[in-house]
Amino acid sequence: MMGNIQILLTLMVVMLLCNFMMILSMKSTTNLSTDQLALLALKEHVITDPQNLLATNWSTSASVCGWVGVTCGSRHRRVTALNLFGMNLFGTIPPHVGNLSFLARLNIGNNSFRGSLPIELANLRRLKSVRMSDNNFDGEIPAWFSSFTQLQDLVMYGNNFTGVIPSSLCSLSKLENLLLAENNLEGQIPEAIGNLSSLIALHLDYNQLSGSIPSSIFNISSLVEIRLANNRFFGFIPSIPQLKISSLQSIDLTFNNLTGLPLDMFDRLPKLRNLYLSYNQLSGGIPMSLFKLKELEDLSLSFNRLKGKIPKEIGNLTMLKRLYLGVNNFEGEIPQQIGNLLNLEEISLTNCKLIGHVPPIIGNLTLLKLLDFSSNNLTGEIPQQVGNLLNLEEFNLKKSDLSGPIPRTISNLTVLQFFDFSYNRLTGNISH
Ligand SMILES: *[C@@H]1O[C@H](CO)[C@@H](O)[C@H](O)[C@H]1NC(C)=O
Ligand SMILES: *[C@@H]1O[C@H](CO)[C@@H](O)[C@H](O)[C@H]1NC(C)=O
Ligand SMILES: *[C@@H]1O[C@H](CO)[C@@H](O)[C@H](O)[C@H]1NC(C)=O
Ligand SMILES: *[C@@H]1O[C@H](CO)[C@@H](O)[C@H](O)[C@H]1NC(C)=O
Ligand SMILES: *[C@@H]1O[C@H](CO)[C@@H](O)[C@H](O)[C@H]1NC(C)=O
Ligand SMILES: *[C@@H]1O[C@H](CO)[C@@H](O)[C@H](O)[C@H]1NC(C)=O
Ligand SMILES: *[C@@H]1O[C@H](CO)[C@@H](O)[C@H](O)[C@H]1NC(C)=O
Ligand SMILES: *[C@@H]1O[C@H](CO)[C@@H](O)[C@H](O)[C@H]1NC(C)=O
Ligand SMILES: *[C@@H]1O[C@H](CO)[C@@H](O)[C@H](O)[C@H]1NC(C)=O
Ligand SMILES: *[C@@H]1O[C@H](CO)[C@@H](O)[C@H](O)[C@H]1NC(C)=O
Ligand SMILES: *[C@@H]1O[C@H](CO)[C@@H](O)[C@H](O)[C@H]1NC(C)=O
Repeated sequence: MMGNIQILLTLMVVMLLCNFMMILSMKSTTNLSTDQLALLALKEHVITDPQNLLATNWSTSASVCGWVGVTCGSRHRRVTALNLFGMNLFGTIPPHVGNLSFLARLNIGNNSFRGSLPIELANLRRLKSVRMSDNNFDGEIPAWFSSFTQLQDLVMYGNNFTGVIPSSLCSLSKLENLLLAENNLEGQIPEAIGNLSSLIALHLDYNQLSGSIPSSIFNISSLVEIRLANNRFFGFIPSIPQLKISSLQSIDLTFNNLTGLPLDMFDRLPKLRNLYLSYNQLSGGIPMSLFKLKELEDLSLSFNRLKGKIPKEIGNLTMLKRLYLGVNNFEGEIPQQIGNLLNLEEISLTNCKLIGHVPPIIGNLTLLKLLDFSSNNLTGEIPQQVGNLLNLEEFNLKKSDLSGPIPRTISNLTVLQFFDFSYNRLTGNISH
């Protein structure tokens, strides 16, 4: 009797297990087919596929997990990543893509997808990385991107997005890379941008953004790179709050209409390496806090309205490789301390109102490739020490008031490709 009951029980357990496994496998088939249907819908919306990648590879005879560009999770076999970068695809994104509910990484960058993004994508709550750069998407940047609470990368540069940057994006507390450059965005940067407490790179360059630059940006202590060049920002950068010590390494505000910087702007940016502020309307003197930037390698202030002397503290910036101060209203002499900048490779002081001599100590800057002091009011002779600048490729001293003989040492400059000493009162010629 006991034996029969045991057999009966075993049978029941086996039957239950079978049932359970059938349910399991049905469930995973359903989910797999959901993913398959979503990807097939995407394939259908791809109008041209010149390499026939999807046409030949995305075949229902194989599991989606083996399709090109598709990655599945090892446990649940659901699609976790879709990478179609640079496949020359032309088409639109169907709402069905919003059914890929396990998707964490979506990269459709460098294709020709167009149209706007369907709101169904808002279901993709697990997304950590969205890369759609270099396509033809238009319409507004969807405010519902804020539902991607795990998002780290939002990479949408090189499209035709219009409208404003939705302030709802500023709630994405894990966002590290917000790259929206080269679109048609307008309006202001939301003040709440300072809420993006994990942000590392902010690229908004080449848009039509305007207004002033919110100082809350400088309150993000994780931020390493800010690019806001080629927009319509204007006014003063407001005084920077009691911010933390910043990790900023690069600020690019080229081609805007900024009129001023707070004097203490650089007090708490000890790691800054690149500072590009040319083509603005900056006036007044160079803020002295700038000379605290011990790591600075690139400094570009050209095409502004800066005035005053070039401070001798310029010599503190000993890591400088590129120094562009041209087309400003500086006056006075070129400071001797420029001779401390032994890492300098490029220097342009063109079109200022500089007087005095070309300092002979310039001959110590033996890494120089470009030296442009043209269109000033420099007097005296060209120092023969320039013959030490054996790496010099471009040498421009035209339009000043230089006199005396052209030093013969110039003939030592064997890699020189361009020089212009015209419109001075120099004598002699150059045997090169
Ligand atoms: C599709 O592409 C993947 C990855 O390149 C490859 O492993 C697979 O064999 C291809 N399948 C077909 C049907 O061509
Ligand atoms: C974009 O893809 C094309 C091929 O479709 C490739 O030649 C090009 O280098 C890619 N661009 C980038 C920036 O990767
Ligand atoms: C997937 O999404 C589409 C459109 O959003 C919807 O109509 C459809 O029912 C979904 N399909 C499956 C299999 O879940
Ligand atoms: C971008 O969108 C604007 C406005 O919708 C349109 O006028 C323009 O032609 C578009 N540019 C490109 C390159 O598609
Ligand atoms: C930004 O943070 C402040 C303070 O934590 C909060 O009140 C505000 O709603 C946040 N804004 C956004 C757009 O997340
Ligand atoms: C800077 O951040 C601190 C918190 O980290 C916050 O209290 C303060 O309001 C922020 N200031 C600005 C101007 O965003
Ligand atoms: C700067 O302002 C002037 C005058 O308002 C305007 O003509 C010019 O287009 C602006 N430049 C930029 C880059 O915004
Ligand atoms: C420049 O360097 C000198 C010597 O290291 C230092 O005393 C001075 O405070 C520095 N100036 C600035 C503006 O940082
Ligand atoms: C410039 O170089 C000369 C020798 O090449 C050296 O004697 C002099 O000390 C250098 N000056 C500076 C400021 O480094
Ligand atoms: C250069 O200096 C001379 C004499 O000091 C002066 O007459 C002339 O206007 C100056 N030129 C420029 C462009 O500043
Ligand atoms: C540079 O030129 C001068 C004069 O022409 C010459 O005496 C000297 O030897 C040259 N120096 C080098 C390093 O070639």
